[in-house]
Amino acid sequence: MTFRVLQFGATGQLAREMLALASDGLEITALSRAEVDLTDADAIARAVGEAGDLDLVINAAAYTAVDKAESEPDLAYAVNARAPAAIARACQARALPFVHFSTDMVFSGAKTGAYVETDTPAPLHVYGASKLLGEMAVLDACDRALVARVSWLFSAYGQNFLQMMLKLAATQPVLKVVDDQRARPTASADVAAFLLSQAPRLARAPAGGPEWGLLHLVNAGEASRFEMAQAIFELAWPDRAPPVLEPVPTSTFPTPARRALNCVLDTARLKSVFGLELRPWREALEDTLEQLAPAKVSA
Ligand SMILES: NC(=O)c1ccc[n+]([C@@H]2O[C@H](COP(=O)([O-])OP(=O)(O)OC[C@H]3O[C@@H](n4cnc5c(N)ncnc54)[C@H](OP(=O)(O)O)[C@@H]3O)[C@@H](O)[C@H]2O)c1
Repeated sequence: MTFRVLQFGATGQLAREMLALASDGLEITALSRAEVDLTDADAIARAVGEAGDLDLVINAAAYTAVDKAESEPDLAYAVNARAPAAIARACQARALPFVHFSTDMVFSGAKTGAYVETDTPAPLHVYGASKLLGEMAVLDACDRALVARVSWLFSAYGQNFLQMMLKLAATQPVLKVVDDQRARPTASADVAAFLLSQAPRLARAPAGGPEWGLLHLVNAGEASRFEMAQAIFELAWPDRAPPVLEPVPTSTFPTPARRALNCVLDTARLKSVFGLELRPWREALEDTLEQLAPAKVSA
């Protein structure tokens, strides 16, 4: 029997990791922006309403330009808040389970220690506020919705910190990297594999079950951006001199959207509800680097 998923987002890093896992028993219909623009609520409703037999709906699309969102707030709110709300309403109308993604950036970073799902969000910027509204709207509209907060996604696909470091190192012998922002770097591939492995359980889980609600879904361990950069070059360039990495404070790189310093998410709920944790981020990074073409990894 085939398990059928309708996914918003086809080109993003997480979306592509999901698609890479499609198999004989798992059919993923991914909708790109050209097929459904998330600023069009009617198109969203039609896409879910007319999709035929479905077991699960996933939203892997979002407005992710954190700094640009400061000057495009309407678009950020449309894609990150109103669109997931529309998907959630359409799922509720068909009694379908819905998986949506959010971010550590709903928090201010002022807490000492890791954030749990019940901590009060206090976003520092438009992107974080738009994602927070999206979380709330989804959970309000759909009684079988899982909102997975992820952090510092890396992948062999798309644009991310890993790709940026390798690209910069190709032309710059010295890289300044911030050492006062901390999080749990997370492999998009591990997030995708976890969710798709849980998909049959989610499809069966009744409203009110422990599966639904907010979930911190990040790899184990934590790092600063600087420590992550060190790991990238240790693993990617084992036999050659890495670029000189210079630790600097966040204030070295002023950005339109102020960054939170502590973005570490606690994963106790992941363990208690699903009985597992994602592996250490460094192991996942090693696998992701192996996936990258040699030409990309070398300078
Ligand atoms: N990347 C991270 O480090 C990170 C960290 C925390 C949370 N998250 C969350 O994780 C999820 C996945 O992020 P990601 O890094 O995979 O995102 P991504 O690579 O930036 O991809 C975003 C996707 O959204 C699509 N999209 C944007 N605006 C759209 C619109 N108006 N209509 C239709 N599609 C639209 C993009 O399509 P186009 O290709 O056509 O633009 C793209 O496929 C998001 O919910 C994000 O907020 C990401």
